[in-house]
Amino acid sequence: MDKDQRQTIYEIFDQESPIATEMRRLYSNIRHVDGRSPKRSFLITSADRGEGKSTVASYLALTVARFRGRKSLVVDADLRKPKLHEIFDVPKEPGLFECLNGEIDPLEAIKDTPIENLKIIPAGRRVKSPAHLFEGDIMTEIFEKIKFYYDIVIVDSAPIIPVSDPMLISSVIDGVVLVLLAGRTPRNVSIRARNILLDANANLLGVVVNNMSEVLPYYYDYRYYGYTEDDER
Ligand SMILES: Nc1ncnc2c1ncn2[C@@H]1O[C@H](COP(=O)(O)OP(=O)(O)OP(=O)(O)O)[C@@H](O)[C@H]1O
Ligand SMILES: [Mg+2]
Repeated sequence: MDKDQRQTIYEIFDQESPIATEMRRLYSNIRHVDGRSPKRSFLITSADRGEGKSTVASYLALTVARFRGRKSLVVDADLRKPKLHEIFDVPKEPGLFECLNGEIDPLEAIKDTPIENLKIIPAGRRVKSPAHLFEGDIMTEIFEKIKFYYDIVIVDSAPIIPVSDPMLISSVIDGVVLVLLAGRTPRNVSIRARNILLDANANLLGVVVNNMSEVLPYYYDYRYYGYTEDDER
């Protein structure tokens, strides 16, 4: 189907749909998961490719942005396989790459969407090996700045097992949501992803089991998702 015939996410996303209900539940859970002050920034990752990170990040961002008066920003930090500019139909550049590369201020990379409370920083120019970009102080400065200006920040990222970027980003984000694909992500692989995050001291808030056949993601607190302290690390 060509682009003009495809429905945009703004048309597809229906506040009354089951997925919207699930997303509100997810948001409520991850925001208050540990009973401490509400979380305001979330990194969405998965063990491997194609498990639904960008989908969950996008729907979550749309859900959050509908809460009145809450300034929301979604960031495409998957510089290897950027997708959010397509999903939200905004220009791809300049974006996070240009910020990380010191070319522009993060506030200059922000794009409007048709939803007043929702802004986006797309991935920016294509770069072959972006890993080193996430290692420096500039990454911290970028995220500190956007967290200052926005109430809620949602970050779509690369998968955690093959790529170190999400682990590095997790240090400046309140919490991480791990997306698993129902019936596809093997248990040992999801445990490995969980352990990478925990070893990096990331605050793992929960697991979303993305069920493609049901078109419904389900949220679980990872502590109750069949992981025990005895699992091999
Ligand atoms: N619950 C779902 N129901 C139907 N289709 C889905 C669902 N979740 C994801 N998809 C589709 O599966 C494909 C992969 O999803 P998505 O791009 O969100 O995954 P990803 O983890 O971000 O992938 P990548 O690792 O390539 O960044 C997309 O075409 C998306 O539209
Ligand atoms: Mg993606």
